[in-house]
Parts: sequence; C-alpha cells; structure tokens
Amino acid sequence: MLYRIKIILCILFLPGLSLAIDLENGEEINEVCAGCHGEYGQGGKEGEYPRLAGMPSAFLAKQLHLFRDRKRPNLAMVEYIDDRQMPDDDIQDISHFLEKIVLKTKLPPADESQAGFNAYERLLESKRLMQIPLAPGDVAQGKKQYRKECGSCHGRDGLGDMEKAVPMLAGQYTNYLWRQVKKYREHIRIHDEEAPEEELLKEFSDEELTDIFAYLSTVDD
Ligand code: HEC
Ligand code: HEC
Repeated sequence: MLYRIKIILCILFLPGLSLAIDLENGEEINEVCAGCHGEYGQGGKEGEYPRLAGMPSAFLAKQLHLFRDRKRPNLAMVEYIDDRQMPDDDIQDISHFLEKIVLKTKLPPADESQAGFNAYERLLESKRLMQIPLAPGDVAQGKKQYRKECGSCHGRDGLGDMEKAVPMLAGQYTNYLWRQVKKYREHIRIHDEEAPEEELLKEFSDEELTDIFAYLSTVDD
C-alpha cells in the first residue's frame, strides 16, 4: 500500500524519477522474454519456461534481482540479465507489465454461424488461454493437504498473494513446480527467507506433493 502511494506521489510530483513505472518500456522488454516465456507470458515447452503472466510484480522483480546477482542460477537467462541489459528500472517495468497480463482459462462460448463472428479475434483470444493439464494423483487428498499446509501463503485456491508477493501455484506448469521443489530441497532456492535453514518441502513426501499438484492442476478447470 505504502509502495503504491509512493508511486503515485512520484508520478504526480517528480516526473522522470526512477520510481515511475513505464509499462510501454515493459512491453518492449517483453519482446525479448517472449522468445521463451511466450508473447503473453504464458510460458512454454510444458514448463521448461514458466508462466509469468499475472504473477505478483514484487515476486517477479525479486526473482530477476536474484538471477542478476547470481543468487538463483538460471543459465538460460544469463545473457539477458546482466546490469547493462537489466537496470533496476527495467526490472520494475517488465515486472509490472507481466503482472497485468490476464490469461483466461476457457474461451467463452461463441456461435461461428453468427453474422458478427470474427474468426481472427477468436484465434487471438485462444492464444491467451492457459489450461494446466490434469496431473496424476489424489485430488481430494491434495486439496485437503494444500489448504492445511500451503494455502495460508499461496492463497486458498493457489492463486498467490499479490500483497505478500507469493507466487500462484495453480495455473503454473506442474513440471516447473516439481523442478522448483528439487531446488528448494537442495537449498538452491530459499522458500522462506525468515527461516532460510528450514525447508518446508523437505517435510513432504513426493507422494504427498503429487496429490497437492494434482489438486492445483484442477483449479483452472
Ligand atoms: C532463453 C530463454 C529465456 C529467456 C529469453 C528469458 N527467460 Fe526467464 N526463464 C527461463 C527459464 C529456463 C526459467 C526457469 C529457470 C528454472 O527452472 O529455475 C526462467 C525463469 C524465469 C522467472 C522465474 C519465474 C518463477 O515463477 O519462478 C522469471 C521471473 C523470468 N524467467 C523472467 C524473465 C524475463 C522478464 C525475461 C525477459 C527479460 C526472461 N525471463 C527471458 C528462460 C528464459
Ligand atoms: C510461509 C509461507 C509459505 C508456505 C506455507 C508455502 N509457501 Fe511456497 N512459496 C512461498 C514464497 C514466499 C515463495 C517465493 C519464494 C522465492 O522467492 O523463491 C514460494 C514459492 C513456491 C514455489 C515456487 C513457485 C515459482 O513460481 O517459482 C513452489 C513450487 C512452492 N512455493 C510450493 C509450496 C507448497 C507445495 C507448499 C505447501 C506444502 C508451500 N509452497 C507452502 C511461501 C510459502
């Protein structure tokens, strides 16, 4: 909230100062990211490249800073993320641009025989869709476990928490989530900065996480 007020103050009183967010610049930067993460930040190759659209900007910015500082390894992005390519302002702009992209999970029904039907519009709309395929596992058990163990931070339905900068898990590729579980368990990534030595995901068996991810894959159905 305070952050928002600061941004507004900056836009009102200090034009040109670095806190003002430039979404057009964000859109331009996204042309580079799109090669891997898709034009709409929808990710690709079944989770080799994660979905970025709709993630909290503070979470995205934090990851970009970690990549830039080499604290979170990411070989694929090395050449896009050094200081020259990605000054702080650019990190801010691209993160806010991506946060604002809304991906639908289903196309609204349309009657192709109607006079006003626009096939091209429909095609464009379909490109902005994202549906996570059903992952194997016990959905009911996973839902129970998720609500108890993860929901307090990642949101009741796995959609993340904008205020606290917690990423959505529902709507993210299951493969990608598994890869991150491995990284957290090996302390390559830090899950909870307030308790960096402890890793919550080590306390769960692969079977339990399979059920949780099965549930998360159904949230967008
Ligand atoms: C050459 C391919 C490539 C390009 C170009 C690229 N990325 Fe990535 N990005 C990746 C890969 C691969 C990962 C996943 C790394 C991992 O598994 O930890 C990733 C992960 C991320 C993540 C972490 C997301 C999460 O949920 O943890 C963010 C944020 C991100 N990229 C932002 C960007 C932005 C912004 C750009 C454009 C400036 C960009 N990427 C360009 C390949 C790319
Ligand atoms: C105390 C709050 C908290 C709890 C509880 C929690 N998480 Fe997280 N989770 C976070 C935060 C914060 C991040 C982002 C951390 C970072 O910067 O890497 C995150 C990131 C993740 C990621 C990586 C997502 C991405 O896009 O990179 C996965 C996977 C994940 N959590 C799974 C889980 C699961 C499964 C549970 C329940 C068993 C869980 N988390 C419980 C706070 C939490």
